[in-house]
Amino acid sequence: MKKLNGDLKNNIAVFISGRGSNLNSIINYSLKKKTIYKVKLVISNKQKAKGLLVAKKYRIRNYFIDITKSKKLGNKVLNILKKNKIKLVCLAGFMKILPAYFVKQYSGKIINIHPSLLPKYKGLNTHQKVIDNNEKFTGCTVHYVNRFLDSGKIISQNKVRISKKDNFKSIKKKVLKIEHKIYPIAINKVLSNL
Ligand code: GRF
Repeated sequence: MKKLNGDLKNNIAVFISGRGSNLNSIINYSLKKKTIYKVKLVISNKQKAKGLLVAKKYRIRNYFIDITKSKKLGNKVLNILKKNKIKLVCLAGFMKILPAYFVKQYSGKIINIHPSLLPKYKGLNTHQKVIDNNEKFTGCTVHYVNRFLDSGKIISQNKVRISKKDNFKSIKKKVLKIEHKIYPIAINKVLSNL
């Protein structure tokens, strides 16, 4: 068990729906000295999300709340964020669209990672779309969240080359690897400009 220290760091919340490999890399990066954030809480809209186990492993406060189900639940989450002095919300494999009132409350303070070179291939099945279009490159994008799907201002992007040998699985793996690298760095960058 690694102990998280950093009472002086900026508190962030990570919203997940599944596996939580980005969550894991965000937490690991937060253990470095140069990091200016601390993962204060994790919120999942899925009770069985494996990412909740990642949060538990690091003893990070975690909740299963389907924020998109009702305004009451959305407000509950907003209260939790306030109580925990959350400066930034990071969506990491969060598979729902946040309601407009929620985004408005945290305007400019919600970011997301998407597995394509936005503005290309918004939404689901990005890797398949990349293959179908014979793209030579793909990658991932960290961007601000606004009311529209995968459309907010881009914060950072990283490219990977697609070779003839690549297939769906290998592309997915390559992209995930760079996601793990760029997301924590982007979080640091955003917080240093807030
Ligand atoms: C990542 O590819 C992310 O870009 C996308 O969903 C996947 C989540 O993976 N939005 P994980 O839960 O972080 O492992």
